[in-house]
Amino acid sequence: MSRRSILIGTGSALPDRRVTNAQLAEQGVDTSDEWIVERTGISARHIAGDGETTATMATEAARRALAAAGVPAREIGLIVLATATPDQTFPASATRVQTALGIDDCIAFDVQAVCTGFLYALTIADNMLKGGMAEYALVIRSETFSRILDWGDRATCVLFGDGAGAVVLKAEAAGDRGILATRLHADGRHNDLLYVDGGPSTTGTVGKLRMKGREVFRHAVVNLAEVFGEVLSASGHSVEEIDWVVPHQANKRILDATARKLGLAPEKVVVTVDQHANTSAASVPLALDTAVRDGRIKRGDLIVLEAMGGGFTWGAAVLRY
Ligand SMILES: CC(C)(COP(=O)(O)OP(=O)(O)OC[C@H]1O[C@@H](n2cnc3c(N)ncnc32)[C@H](O)[C@@H]1OP(=O)(O)O)[C@@H](O)C(=O)NCCC(=O)NCCS
Repeated sequence: MSRRSILIGTGSALPDRRVTNAQLAEQGVDTSDEWIVERTGISARHIAGDGETTATMATEAARRALAAAGVPAREIGLIVLATATPDQTFPASATRVQTALGIDDCIAFDVQAVCTGFLYALTIADNMLKGGMAEYALVIRSETFSRILDWGDRATCVLFGDGAGAVVLKAEAAGDRGILATRLHADGRHNDLLYVDGGPSTTGTVGKLRMKGREVFRHAVVNLAEVFGEVLSASGHSVEEIDWVVPHQANKRILDATARKLGLAPEKVVVTVDQHANTSAASVPLALDTAVRDGRIKRGDLIVLEAMGGGFTWGAAVLRY
């Protein structure tokens, strides 16, 4: 019997502390609300405080997703956590989440694909569920990018925020709902356009985020438009049939340029970058959870998820909610 992964619950979590553009400028970043809004569409971001970590936010988002799905934690057989900012180099933050949720035994590991982490984690979990490795999976994305930002580099520190998002997937006999197609890519020739200048096996330090913003922007629009077409052709749908696009929330101008290139109506694109900034891998599930909870996304809607990030990595998924 062929199986399909159904999305049965979403959840998200943000740090308590919300920081506006004006507050960043007051705290000494050489910037202005006007510049940030005009270039990125970002008005505010959440920044993790003492005790708030990738694993604690992931656990909170997971609890909300489990509650929304009506599934007890003990049913979970697989946890895939996408993060580029784990609590520790090892063990995987997914195992901390597992313990915090009171799950004694399940498959649990982290995935590192930076801002495309959500699409990579979702694709892995989807294939493991379809392969019969588990019946229920938690796919979580959580990031504390504030801890790898160089607060003296105004070209990057204003762009990112912290947060987490989670979904519960359930394996069911294939029907018309669920994840219909996924496509993933990576091209390591562009490592030096968006990276962290440290790591356990090179500097022995955590490092800080570095980015050549203009070049990332150019590649993002081209790659996202390509993978969008590719995943739609894999699922057999046209752009007109899509109800919602939930993109990685990097920059409002990237979202607008990609939508224009694809001939997508702007009102079909879920935008949260204004309030959350770029939360890396967490941004797609955070935006998804926001639109599910405010009633925009409804059962039966056809949704495209897409993301692009350091590596470069990029990918997309089509699902019927
Ligand atoms: C980062 C980004 C917003 C910068 O916009 P841009 O139009 O390319 O701006 P530039 O980097 O060319 O800088 C233009 C000017 O603004 C200045 N500037 C940069 N950051 C600034 C800030 N936060 N506040 C005020 N001025 C700033 C620069 O110093 C430069 O000044 P100069 O002309 O006097 O040298 C844009 O390139 C971008 O969004 N790129 C994609 C980044 C992204 O989303 N990455 C994540 C993908 S996962």
